[in-house]
Amino acid sequence: MPDLSVTLSGIKLDNPVIPASGTFGYGAEFKDFYDINILGSFSFKGTTKEPRFGNPTPRVAECVSGMINSVGLQNPGIDAVINEELPRIATYFKKPVIANIGGFSVDEFVYCAERLSVSEQVGIIEVNISCPNLHKGGVNFGSDPKAAAEVTAAVRKATNKPIYLKLSPNVESITEIAKACEDAGADGISLINTLLGMRIDIKTRKPVIANKMGGFSGRAIFPVALRMVYEVSKAVKIPIIGMGGVASAENVIEMMMAGASAVQVGAENLRNPYACKEIIEALPRVMAELKIDRLRDIVGVA
Ligand code: FUM
Repeated sequence: MPDLSVTLSGIKLDNPVIPASGTFGYGAEFKDFYDINILGSFSFKGTTKEPRFGNPTPRVAECVSGMINSVGLQNPGIDAVINEELPRIATYFKKPVIANIGGFSVDEFVYCAERLSVSEQVGIIEVNISCPNLHKGGVNFGSDPKAAAEVTAAVRKATNKPIYLKLSPNVESITEIAKACEDAGADGISLINTLLGMRIDIKTRKPVIANKMGGFSGRAIFPVALRMVYEVSKAVKIPIIGMGGVASAENVIEMMMAGASAVQVGAENLRNPYACKEIIEALPRVMAELKIDRLRDIVGVA
């Protein structure tokens, strides 16, 4: 039997496949397609202190091999997540989840982390310092090593849960930011968030997205994500969750060979709601073809 299990900060996952934040909601819609307990875990939609409607519409644009979004962290706010979403998740998902948090100030990140710390269902807190769709907050914390370290250190003090900082590719040096987070107490790094992109409707001569620009994700960004996972894995000792354009079992294996201990699947869930199920089911066959007995043995072999 091939062994698909991996461990993130002492939490054993049955397999490394994790739907990425913002592409899986709280799992409720996807559980009607398949039993989502086959997943390693899932990262739920980025949660902020206050509820957010998000950015004006239109906020998505289709692209060849991907899409652009400028959702703007639409979410019901931390109170609703704690009082409604997490108890609902517990009825259909029996494994630890990854709680993704966003913020407009260090205090907001701290507040959300503190509130989520008491939930048994939360295994890891994923701190999103890389959202490209906010006029303040978001990537502003993730594009400067000092600001990234400040958020990391403050959240580190606020919770006993493992914290994974989610990083942006839209920076001068992602390895510097990753090292700053590691030095400030991060337990792991999630990368990459979306690449800043844009489309123009040539008939209206206006940007397709109301906010003009947004985050480009999907299959097209896989080689960029892979390269960044590879570089960051050489620069830090903490585990990496790799993501960006992952769409197949082969992509999962490639990400792990680049240095990822687990892998998130994002835009592909929006194209094919069965994507994660199909990847998990294909992994044993691809492992057998490649003579891989234990998936965790290939982390960083490249
Ligand atoms: O705009 C959004 O909700 C996306 C968030 C992100 O990419 O971090």
